[in-house]
Amino acid sequence: MSVHDQIEDARAQALSRVENAPDLDALVAIEPSLFGKKSTLGGLKRLMGQVDASERAAIGKALNAAQQAVREAFDSVRVTLAAEMRREQLETERMDLTEVPCAPNLGHLHLISQTTQRLEDVFVGMGFTVSEGPEAETDWYNFTALNLPSWHPARSMWDTLYLDLGSGEDVLLRTHTSPVQVRVMEQQRPPIYTVCPGRVFRRDTADASHLPAFHQIEGLVVDEGITFGDLAGTLDEFTAAYFGESIKSRLRPSFFPFTEPSAEFDITCTICEGAGCQTCARTGWIELGGCGVVHPNVLSNVGIDPECYSGFAFGFGIDRLALMRHGISDLRDMFTNDVRFLTQF
Ligand code: DAH
Repeated sequence: MSVHDQIEDARAQALSRVENAPDLDALVAIEPSLFGKKSTLGGLKRLMGQVDASERAAIGKALNAAQQAVREAFDSVRVTLAAEMRREQLETERMDLTEVPCAPNLGHLHLISQTTQRLEDVFVGMGFTVSEGPEAETDWYNFTALNLPSWHPARSMWDTLYLDLGSGEDVLLRTHTSPVQVRVMEQQRPPIYTVCPGRVFRRDTADASHLPAFHQIEGLVVDEGITFGDLAGTLDEFTAAYFGESIKSRLRPSFFPFTEPSAEFDITCTICEGAGCQTCARTGWIELGGCGVVHPNVLSNVGIDPECYSGFAFGFGIDRLALMRHGISDLRDMFTNDVRFLTQF
């Protein structure tokens, strides 16, 4: 076979392989065998040395023309196959937009916000206002004004997170919502009937029942002739309004520096309704928070005359309340913000 025929043969074969490539991947895979040194046309190029000098120019021209023809065919088939692949991809990934629901999936308030709002609603219904205070507090509001001087041993009840601001250990993250009591009493004169919900902070490692940041609601009443009986009646009334008539409240003697007398406030266990279960350690009661009659020193600290006015205060955890109401076993679940958990409430 003459060299020209061999070139013609190699060209025809290469073109047929290009045209028969089933898809883009197959085409790209044969590229080295079409154009590389080991391709048939490449092999023929190496034979040029043996060709008669008079024919060399013509054979060289024919080889280049054959190679160019294969390259052009290759490029054009590649464009066609790539377009085909894209079309197929678009077809399979096509989305049916006619079935989008009319209403987008709206979010809702976090369980703690919902619980806080319900608590506020109950107290507003009983004639209370809602007050707020800052999360970063000074020592005065968080401790000193609440009858907790710097040397007082009760300060160790609160594991405090101090901020690197002000002089010494003066600025801190409030350890309870009680400082809002002081702020309210500084700004308003009695009669005062208010609740103060908010976030508080303590140096605690997170576990199923503790978090370093959690929520409390504080209550404060200051008026003429307020007694411990008013406190007990208010808490009873609140318990029935929030939990329903089957849940009762009780008070147990306790100690807080800002109230005298002080008490711990328990409610019937909402899980077993008083029968005794694991959640309430078989006592039938769950501790909600602390309360008491406002200490005369606290009233004096804000310029309210304890001879004319008296008051009561209480404070309890909101997170635990939500936990009990919904039978949640781990407080941390509420704040890791997994929507699969949150959308249940
Ligand atoms: N602040 C207290 C705490 O975080 C709870 C508390 C107890 C608040 C008695 C009060 C109160 O207002 O009178 O443990």
